[in-house]
Amino acid sequence: MTDVRPPSRTRSRRALAVGIAAGALIAPLLAYGHAAATDTPRVDPPLRDAAASSGRFAGLGVGSPLNDDPTYTDITATEFSSLTPGNEMKWGTVEPVQGQFDWSGADEVVEFAQAHDQEVHGHTLVWHSQLPGWVENGQYEGELLDVMTEHVTTEASRYAGQVARWDVVNEPMNEDGTLRNSVFLQEIGESYIAEAFRAADAADPDAKLYINDYNTDGLGAKSDGLYDLVSSLLDQGVPIDGVGFQSHLIVGQVPGDMRENLQRFADLGLEVAVTELDVRIEMPADDAELAQQASDFGAVVDACTAVSACIGVTVWGFTDADSWIPGTFPGYGAAHPWDENYQTKPAHDAIRDAFLAAGTG
Ligand code: XIL
Repeated sequence: MTDVRPPSRTRSRRALAVGIAAGALIAPLLAYGHAAATDTPRVDPPLRDAAASSGRFAGLGVGSPLNDDPTYTDITATEFSSLTPGNEMKWGTVEPVQGQFDWSGADEVVEFAQAHDQEVHGHTLVWHSQLPGWVENGQYEGELLDVMTEHVTTEASRYAGQVARWDVVNEPMNEDGTLRNSVFLQEIGESYIAEAFRAADAADPDAKLYINDYNTDGLGAKSDGLYDLVSSLLDQGVPIDGVGFQSHLIVGQVPGDMRENLQRFADLGLEVAVTELDVRIEMPADDAELAQQASDFGAVVDACTAVSACIGVTVWGFTDADSWIPGTFPGYGAAHPWDENYQTKPAHDAIRDAFLAAGTG
């Protein structure tokens, strides 16, 4: 799709400047064929360079296991400057038996990121989902506070200095803005959140520590609850640095007040980031929906770039060929910026252009 669109003057001037600054762009782009097939090839900067032109990262939540198809790895390496392991750092994956750790999947993502000059966004230390059975079913030795602290300490220490940001606590909120009745809330009480942050900070003082949730992208009961929680953590001196907005969205439903919402968290003195962006469409997706999806992806990037404390945008998968959406939201799909043949969709161009529009390129 990118091949046939006439380049706008503004876009190509910016793109060229970024491209020259970034250098060595043409070869990787030709490798998966989205450079223009005209006399004057248009220079499309990878998303990571477009994002960098606005001082931000372009992140990817990688599939699990890390797909070793060369086209997949090329795009992962060349287009993104931050990787979030999709599943490999979750409690159920790394500690299937109490005290016995399997770091193989997590290590693979970290090594890939290091080899390609990418940050790692650690995901996630404490979450009610994808827990090992022994936590879920209460079959552990000792108190859950100690078990949780030990888990957080072990994992955050192992990757200390290698993880730029940790989602310390994931999805703590209910839709009505109260705290989710997870096993951690039940067994430890509300203080589990502060304790998890303190343990992560002690284990890796350099990582930025995030709380992360979904359906908190715009103003509303759930994000109000999150705002109150984060404010209270800050009042208690809890070492929290950032708030992640997952942004698992439905086409045409980007909250109009997303920028305002991100800004109020930023005004607390925190970083913010879009951490798991996808825009799902009821299948089959038509061209009008793909155009709306492009505008939605662009609107989310615009919301981020309008907030100086918003440090980057991570998409939760880049290709429709490798997506968590159809399995989780039956009937929905086509949620990502590349199609199932690894060709860029209008959404890809919209992300790139939104970053460039905010950038110095
Ligand atoms: C999803 C993964 O992408 C799937 O592969 C897995 O089966 C379920 O979890 N919010 C989160 C992510 O914080 O960890 C979830 O990832 C998507 C929703």
